[in-house]
Amino acid sequence: MLLLYSCLFAALAYAQVLVQNVTFNSDYHLSPAQIKAANLSSALVQQVQVALNFERSNNAGNLTQNDPFYFLPDGVTRSNLPPPGSILKVEEYTNTTYYTFPPSLSLSRFLYVSESYNGSRVPVSAYVLWPFTPRKFRGLKACSGSSNTVYPVIGQAHGTTGQTQACAPSNLRALADAYYEPFTMALNGYAVVAPDYAGLGIPQSPTPYFVFPSHANDLFHAVAAAQSQWPTLLSKSFVLTGQSQGGGTAWSAAQRQVKRPVPGYLGTLAASPFTNILAAISGEDQTQVNVRVVGIAQGLDSVLANFTASQWLTPIAIARLALLRELKGCSGTANQLFSSKQGIDFLQPGWNETDGAAWYARNIRNGAQPFAGPMLVIQGTTDGNAIESVTTAAVNQTCQMYPKARLQYTRYTGVGHSQVMPAGQNEWLGWISDRFEGKRQRDGCELAVVGPVRDAASVVKAQNWFIEYNQYGI
Ligand SMILES: *[C@@H]1O[C@H](CO)[C@@H](O)[C@H](O)[C@H]1NC(C)=O
Ligand SMILES: *[C@@H]1O[C@H](CO)[C@@H](O)[C@H](O)[C@H]1NC(C)=O
Ligand SMILES: *[C@@H]1O[C@H](CO)[C@@H](O)[C@H](O)[C@H]1NC(C)=O
Ligand SMILES: *[C@@H]1O[C@H](CO)[C@@H](O)[C@H](O)[C@H]1NC(C)=O
Ligand SMILES: *[C@@H]1O[C@H](CO)[C@@H](O)[C@H](O)[C@H]1NC(C)=O
Ligand SMILES: *[C@@H]1O[C@H](CO)[C@@H](O)[C@H](O)[C@H]1NC(C)=O
Ligand SMILES: *[C@@H]1O[C@H](CO)[C@@H](O)[C@H](O)[C@H]1NC(C)=O
Ligand SMILES: *[C@@H]1O[C@H](CO)[C@@H](O)[C@H](O)[C@H]1NC(C)=O
Repeated sequence: MLLLYSCLFAALAYAQVLVQNVTFNSDYHLSPAQIKAANLSSALVQQVQVALNFERSNNAGNLTQNDPFYFLPDGVTRSNLPPPGSILKVEEYTNTTYYTFPPSLSLSRFLYVSESYNGSRVPVSAYVLWPFTPRKFRGLKACSGSSNTVYPVIGQAHGTTGQTQACAPSNLRALADAYYEPFTMALNGYAVVAPDYAGLGIPQSPTPYFVFPSHANDLFHAVAAAQSQWPTLLSKSFVLTGQSQGGGTAWSAAQRQVKRPVPGYLGTLAASPFTNILAAISGEDQTQVNVRVVGIAQGLDSVLANFTASQWLTPIAIARLALLRELKGCSGTANQLFSSKQGIDFLQPGWNETDGAAWYARNIRNGAQPFAGPMLVIQGTTDGNAIESVTTAAVNQTCQMYPKARLQYTRYTGVGHSQVMPAGQNEWLGWISDRFEGKRQRDGCELAVVGPVRDAASVVKAQNWFIEYNQYGI
C-alpha cells in the first residue's frame, strides 16, 4: 500500500500540473447592429454570448461551418446528386483528438444522399461510431462476403441539437447524446450509424426540424449508404433507435417501413418519442414551447408551400430567428433568445389553430397508423417534453387499431425525458440483442410500468455534469 502510494506520488511529481480550463474555446461578441436588430437587453446579450461560446467550444476541432469535411466534393451540387443512399464523401479515420470518446472507439464520417419530405434529393452528413471489436451474433451476415468480423448495425436518430448547420452531432465532441446512446451502443459492440439530419452539417436553410418523415429518410439512407461503403464489415440487418426528436424519427421510420420495406430491418426502439406533437408541446414549459415552435416554424415552409414562419411567429421572434441563423446558434442559444422569462410574446395568438398547424398535426404525427414491428417504446412518467399522457394515448390508439402489432410499451416511474435512456438501458440493450439473436417478440401490445426498487427520492433525477477535456490527454 505504502509502495503503491509513493509510486503514484512520484509519477505525479514529474508531470507538469495544468489548471483545468474554466474559459471557453470561443470568444464571440455580438455586434451593436445584431443587438439592435434583435432588441436584446444587455443582460440577454451576455446570456446569448455565453450560450453561443459554450456551443462553439463543444465542436470537435474546427467549427462545423469551417470544417472542410462538410463541403460537397468538387463537381457535386444539389442539382446533380446521385440517387438516395449514395455515398458522396468518406472520412475513413476521423481524427478523434478533439472528441471526448470512451477509449477503444473509433470514428468515420461520411456525406451521402438522402430524400427530403417530398422525395427530392438532399445531401446529408453522418458518422459511424465503431467499437473496438464487434458483438458476436450467431449467423450475423455482412452485406457481402463472409467474415468473422461483422459489426451489428444500429441506425441511431439523435435528439434535438438545433436547426442550423452548426448543430451536427458528427462534429460535437460527445456526438450530442454521449453515454445515453451512441457511446453505450458502441461499447456494447454495435456499429452506430447516425445521420445529422438534413441541414445540420451541410448548410441548408431552412432545415426541416421535427418533420419526422424527412428525418426517417435520413436514417434509412444513412444505413444504406454506410452498408454500401463498408459492405464486408457492416451487417445487412439493423435496428433503428432514437430518443426525443430521435424517438419521433424512429417511430416514423417504423411507419415508413410498412410503405417502403427495407430489407434487413429488425425493429425500432422509440424512446420518449414525439407522437401528437402539438399536444405534447402544449404540456411543455413556455421556453420549450417557444423554442420548439420557432424551430418547427423556421422549417415548415420547406414542406408546406403556402406556409410562412410569420403565420406562427411575432416580428420580434422573426428578428431573433434571423440572428440565430446568422450566429449559427443551436438549442442553447435559442433557449436564451426565446426564454419566457423576458415576458415577450414570440408566438402569434392562435398559431396552433392555423391551417399550417392543422396540416402539420395531420401529416407529421406518429401513432394510430400501421407500423412495422417489433417496436419497443420507453417513456418516463415525469417527462416534461414528450408528455407521458400523449405518448400513452398514441400507444393506446395504435394498439386498439392494430391489435396484432408487436409493440412493447414500458413506462418508467418518476423518470424524465432524457433520463429514460439510462433508466431503461438494461431493457433496451436486451431488446436490441434479442432482435439480432432472431427472437420473436410476441404479437400484440404489452404494457409495463416499472418503478425504482429503492426509495424514489434516492434516485438521481437529472444530469449535473458535462464531459470535459483532460488537458493531459490532449
Ligand atoms: C483552454 O482555453 C483556451 C482559451 O481560453 C484555449 O485556447 C485552449 O485551447 C483551451 N484548451 C483546452 C484543452 O480546451
Ligand atoms: C424591445 O425590448 C424592450 C424591453 O427590453 C421592450 O420594451 C420593447 O417593446 C421591445 N421592442 C420591440 C419592437 O419588441
Ligand atoms: C480545420 O480546417 C482547416 C482548413 O480550413 C484544416 O486545414 C484543418 O485540418 C482543420 N482542423 C481540424 C482539427 O479539423
Ligand atoms: C490529429 O490531430 C492532432 C491535433 O491537431 C495532431 O497532433 C495529430 O497528428 C493528428 N493525427 C493524425 C493521425 O493526423
Ligand atoms: C421539395 O423540397 C425541396 C426542399 O425541401 C424544395 O427545394 C423543392 O422545391 C420541393 N419540390 C417540390 C416539387 O415541391
Ligand atoms: C395550404 O396548403 C395546405 C395543403 O396543401 C392546405 O390544406 C391549406 O388549406 C392551405 N392553406 C392556405 C392558407 O391556403
Ligand atoms: C391551442 O392552444 C390553446 C392554448 O394553449 C389551447 O387552449 C387550444 O386548445 C389549442 N388548440 C389546438 C387545436 O390544439
Ligand atoms: C390507455 O389504456 C389503458 C388501458 O388499456 C388505460 O388505463 C389508460 O387510461 C389509457 N390512457 C390513455 C391516455 O388513453
